[in-house]
Amino acid sequence: MESQITGNTKVICLIGNPVEHTISPTLHNNISRLLGEDLIYTAFRVEPGELENAVKGLKALNVVGFNVTVPYKNDIIPFLDELSTEAKLIGAVNTVKNVNGRLIGFNTDAEGFSMSFKEETGIPFTGKSIAVIGAGGAARAVAVKTALEGAGKITVINRTLTKAEDIADIINNNIREIAASCTPEENAFRRILEDSDIIINTTSLGMFPKVETSPLDFPFKFNKDQILYDVVYNPAKTLFLRQGEQAGCKTVNGLGMLFYQGAKAYEIWTEKSLSHDLVISIFRDFP
Ligand code: ATR
Repeated sequence: MESQITGNTKVICLIGNPVEHTISPTLHNNISRLLGEDLIYTAFRVEPGELENAVKGLKALNVVGFNVTVPYKNDIIPFLDELSTEAKLIGAVNTVKNVNGRLIGFNTDAEGFSMSFKEETGIPFTGKSIAVIGAGGAARAVAVKTALEGAGKITVINRTLTKAEDIADIINNNIREIAASCTPEENAFRRILEDSDIIINTTSLGMFPKVETSPLDFPFKFNKDQILYDVVYNPAKTLFLRQGEQAGCKTVNGLGMLFYQGAKAYEIWTEKSLSHDLVISIFRDFP
């Protein structure tokens, strides 16, 4: 069905800076077209210092909701009326729903990660030892989500130790005492890698164009039962994932996380549940 914008068409958008390379408009407009929803999704670059005005404008225009991307996932919080429990713990919001003029913040990156991991591995986090490399926004979402879903042990490894400690504290103080932190100093890093069932790269190391970089800057032989997840999806197989594949490990890239965070946001805005087949078909046909 060809979509037609009319006076009834409702608006959803993305705010961030930059936004020009995002796939979100294509993803969400494809979903709306397939479902026959009268919604249009567009992207706005918001300049530094204009975030509050942008949010007030979106509220005044009564949009259905919006996504928030870099660099505003934390900065948006003071301008919202309420946060989901997960968004509060993670300290970052990527999805906002307008409920009768009240702006409610969610973090669907966490759910997107969890859904894509389970879709592609069939394995739950319950009782697992998990190593999270990096301590930025993606690491917070991933670490908190695995803790909420029953991980047995989580170690956050980051060159800036205080940021890794902050994530471990959030988990230990609010969920369960299962988290530790360290720097990527070779001996300690090796021991953590050897002891982990699931190893997740949340840094940009290995991302295009620096495809020959990896979060491991020393030779390491994974064990075939370990699962490697990389939030990077360009290239589809980072050096980190290739290192795992050579050892026979199951490896997963971040493309599924990107799709599922979008699908989850769409469900929050429209209160409709997207069928698994629909999400998979959009995922498969994506250019
Ligand atoms: P995001 O919100 O996407 O997670 P981010 O907040 O910029 O992005 O976080 C990126 C993480 O990758 C950070 O933990 C960063 O380390 P620092 O906290 O020390 O800055 C880590 N990272 C990025 N580039 C790195 C590099 N070249 N070597 C090691 N760690 C790196």
